[in-house]
Amino acid sequence: MVRVLIITGAGVSAESGIPTFRGKDGYWRNLDPIKLATPEAFARDPELVWQWYRERRHRIRDAQPNAAHEAIANLAQCADEFLLVTQNVDDLHERAGLAKAEMVQIHGDIFVTKCSRCDLNRDDAPPSIAAATCDAASEGEEGQENGLPRCTKCGALMRPGVVWFGEPLPSGEIERVENYLQRDPCGVVIVVGTTATFGYIIDWALRASRRGGELIEVNPEETPLSQFATRLVREPAAVVLPKLVEEFTASSPQI
Ligand code: OAD
Ligand code: ZN
Repeated sequence: MVRVLIITGAGVSAESGIPTFRGKDGYWRNLDPIKLATPEAFARDPELVWQWYRERRHRIRDAQPNAAHEAIANLAQCADEFLLVTQNVDDLHERAGLAKAEMVQIHGDIFVTKCSRCDLNRDDAPPSIAAATCDAASEGEEGQENGLPRCTKCGALMRPGVVWFGEPLPSGEIERVENYLQRDPCGVVIVVGTTATFGYIIDWALRASRRGGELIEVNPEETPLSQFATRLVREPAAVVLPKLVEEFTASSPQI
């Protein structure tokens, strides 16, 4: 039980106060996030889409990682090999202590702002605590609170650095997942807080656990992945992840 793959979705950040996409709090001003997170919505009303992302950035900045993020970061320390694939665009896994090299943000990063036409992108991540001053954040997107950011290279609209519905996943990130899966099977695969709507999530979980690895689903609700799980944990992530991680690290000293 030396290789670990964790896959997370919005449910892992729910207990940090970040609304899930398909949960009852996901709606924003009566708008369905599934319809806002699209190239079509951005083409129709970029101002509206930017407002939604700015509010989400603020909420994420104000939120703190919860016990589930922390447990996952602890597991990474103990595992022989470890990869987290997260569909979340927030930075809570990283702020819980997980290194960038140990994670793939398959749907992008909400703090990246990229050009909608050329390859320019910039990092609008909050400054590190050490470097933070009261108005340090005003340099980036905050400076354009009332306008639409434009590319300094080609003049096109800038957009959030996330994957929208109907867009391809970033190929470099897919490659990182594929390399990890191809090298060896995993002894433990944990899928946390996702409706597993996308086929690639199920595919990666099944392929990683293909040689008899444990496939654990942590989710209060049933999902399309549930039927394949070797163990179902129908509890909130922040309650159960610390227990699960303790179980693995205690029962398997070499994990
Ligand atoms: P969803 O909002 O679809 O699903 C959240 C899941 O978390 C549900 O299955 C809930 O039952 C579960 N959940 C809620 N609270 C939980 C808790 N405390 N502990 C554990 N589980 C909990 O979010 P995702 O599956 O992440 O993509 O959505 C996948 C993708 O669809 C998102 O990355 C986003 C979205 O549209 C893009 O924007 C491309
Ligand atoms: Zn550009």
